[in-house]
Amino acid sequence: MIGRRDLLHGAMALAANRFLAAGQVTSAASPRLAHDPFALGVASGEPASDGFVLWTKVVGLTGNVRLGYEIASDENFRAIIRSGHVDAPVGRGGAAHLEVRGLPPGRPFFYRFHLGDAVSRVGRTATIAADPARLRLALTSCQHWEQGWFSAYRDMVEQDVDAVLQVGDYIYEKSFGSGPNVRAFGTPDPLTLGDYRARHALYRTDPDLAAAHAAMPFIVAFDDHEVENDYAGVDGGITADPAAFLRRRAAAWQAYFEHMPLRPSAWLPADGALQLYRRFRWGRLATVHMLDTRQYRSSLPCPGEKRGGQVVRACDAVADSRATMLGARQEAWLDAGLARERSIWSLVAQQTLFSRLILPQGPDARWSDMWDGYEAARNRVLTSLARPTVRNAVVLGGDVHSFWLNNVLADFGDPRSKIVASEVVTSCLASRNGPAALFDGAQSRNPHVRYHDNRHAGYALLDIVPQRIDVDLLAVASLVEPAAPSFSLERRSIEAGRPGFA
Ligand SMILES: [Fe+2]
Repeated sequence: MIGRRDLLHGAMALAANRFLAAGQVTSAASPRLAHDPFALGVASGEPASDGFVLWTKVVGLTGNVRLGYEIASDENFRAIIRSGHVDAPVGRGGAAHLEVRGLPPGRPFFYRFHLGDAVSRVGRTATIAADPARLRLALTSCQHWEQGWFSAYRDMVEQDVDAVLQVGDYIYEKSFGSGPNVRAFGTPDPLTLGDYRARHALYRTDPDLAAAHAAMPFIVAFDDHEVENDYAGVDGGITADPAAFLRRRAAAWQAYFEHMPLRPSAWLPADGALQLYRRFRWGRLATVHMLDTRQYRSSLPCPGEKRGGQVVRACDAVADSRATMLGARQEAWLDAGLARERSIWSLVAQQTLFSRLILPQGPDARWSDMWDGYEAARNRVLTSLARPTVRNAVVLGGDVHSFWLNNVLADFGDPRSKIVASEVVTSCLASRNGPAALFDGAQSRNPHVRYHDNRHAGYALLDIVPQRIDVDLLAVASLVEPAAPSFSLERRSIEAGRPGFA
């Protein structure tokens, strides 16, 4: 096609001075750049009925820059409905997070950024309809650069989803396992802000991931590998020294914020925090309560000599009422939100497997890094899910590199107790599967597990209407073949008013 850049060039020459606010700009003072400052692409997120967040991150510049942006109702930008400037501060690595409000509900929008004569690719996003009759969500986690191509994102783009829920392990900080790798990180495990920025930037050079961000809004929250494996709050999962871990965590969290389409207010550097638990509403149809199970978590139970998640046996600490996955404030926030729920579907999106999982080692054995390591905390969430205002609760998760469809029981100690929610756990988007020694035969030991697959990577597609959620587990045919298609591995439905899977 005739390059958009060529078509736009005349208009841009006129507009360039407007977009380059004098004095703010250092190295970008010339409107002609030798490289593409928008090589990391564009993204949108935080969808609302009146707006969203638009993101890009300028590369190759050393000073503060101010970008131009345009938002149009058509992809040729004939009807530009909003334009202006957004800062890309060097202190944020050149990231721009633009929060847009005041738009009409239920409409698609197209956007792009400018710097000098450079124009970003065009992104597409949408505002949420005032009272939608249907909603299509993709649930994804665990994308290991080395272990597989990200071809599942191509399928996701074709499915025309309303939003992607990325519940963590967006990047991996390390190599692990044995098996075929399709590419290499090429750098040591990240420790500093510069290292983590480079790791995120590497990810955005993946054409399928970059295209997915340009095509659909992402709702994101991190898990452990965005920092280091199996950390819990202030406890490193790998780094033993507390101060060294907190330095690593701060660098990793800043780089995560810089690369994600989060609200500018999500980053709280003075508190050393990222505000990631938040809600998204699709009218009366559905609310997504996005949780953060990593940042406020108390120490893993019964760690012994080994750091990080492990099988713990006869460990009383798994029932410690002071232990927490969410922290007291987030727990109260979740409970208050569910107590005043008005949506037909309450979708609680979080990072890992929520339901009890009896392991081959016996009923006194638990994997300490999942909700099984925090039983009292899980019981408090179960009490919140059982609020009379909650009509249909669905817990969404990832992390365990395998697909699960579970019945969430009021009391996991009693297999005949009431089903209070349905659970959908997506497999890894691109990684090797979960440990067979823990997961094989899971259904025979756990009657509340209604479906389990530990042989495929992929993602979960949820088609939500008032009467039902159709869950389609989509598997990639091969992680080592870049053109591999996705196929439907399993389809199940959740009927409104009848929690769980048959
Ligand atoms: Fe993972």
